[in-house]
Amino acid sequence: MTPTNQHTSHHGEGGHHSGHAHGGHHEHVDRGQAEILDLDAEVLGEHMASIIAWLPLESEPRQIVDLGCGTGAGTFALLERFPDAHVTAVDTSAGYLQLLREKACARGVERRVRTVQADLDTDDWPDLGTPDLVWASASMHHMADPDRALTSVRELLAPGGLFAVVELAGFPRFLPADAPESRPGLEERAHAAADGFHAEHVPHRGADWGPMLTAAGFTVEDERTITVRIEGARSETVGRYAYGGLRRIRGVAAPALGPEDLAALDELLDTDSPNSLLRRDDLTVRTERTVWAARRA
Ligand SMILES: C[S@@+](CC[C@H](N)C(=O)[O-])C[C@H]1O[C@@H](n2cnc3c(N)ncnc32)[C@H](O)[C@@H]1O
Repeated sequence: MTPTNQHTSHHGEGGHHSGHAHGGHHEHVDRGQAEILDLDAEVLGEHMASIIAWLPLESEPRQIVDLGCGTGAGTFALLERFPDAHVTAVDTSAGYLQLLREKACARGVERRVRTVQADLDTDDWPDLGTPDLVWASASMHHMADPDRALTSVRELLAPGGLFAVVELAGFPRFLPADAPESRPGLEERAHAAADGFHAEHVPHRGADWGPMLTAAGFTVEDERTITVRIEGARSETVGRYAYGGLRRIRGVAAPALGPEDLAALDELLDTDSPNSLLRRDDLTVRTERTVWAARRA
């Protein structure tokens, strides 16, 4: 197959889709969000690989579509696991797709990746081939109308093909419950303060995708939740991941946080402060991922 870097329809992007960007190759890409996606891929890489290995596939997939691929966490894990496969990586963000293509070149797999810029919230999806595996990690909850998107995936899949939906209930936690010393429990309160924003803007995050998949005409073959706990005491990557994540939570939580909590959060996020998050040696990554493996009947 000849690889192409195809750019297709690019419709309006609800403002809640953080990381979205407008325009062509020279658009602004949200570097902070792109970095978090990359750190996420690095920190959770082993877990993603085990999810892929667990998928109840009937044969090795040759044509894979990665929906809402971001900077390629799933794309590259899938390419590694299935050396004969090609991946069509789809996202609204031209900036993410550009980063993904750069990585594909750096890894020497550019001939096995096609990027497609498209808004999956629209009815008219571009031609994505006839995949035998569709992968969507942390992207389905962004859809304005998930039922419609699931139906489009069913129509897209080859008969007997598999749809893997990987979802999360929330962003990872990093701090011990008694931290920071001045405001114990701050991290949970910051997340609680951000909940209102998420309920309004990403209401499908944390949803049970099983019944929705069944209603869209899939047979849910299996479902699995993995609990992740990674000790980060001496990991610079975990420090940066925690820092990037909490900085984004601060962005949405600030209006609903009390002044003492906000000040303590700002101290954690002040890289010059002796109390900076980056100086702590007690960070752990604690999160969960649930995967639904659904077959096109
Ligand atoms: C949380 S990121 C996950 C990225 C990647 N799948 C991963 O696991 O790292 C969600 C991605 O979905 C994309 N996205 C959100 N809404 C979309 C839409 N309507 N159409 C296409 N992509 C969308 C975002 O641009 C973003 O890259």
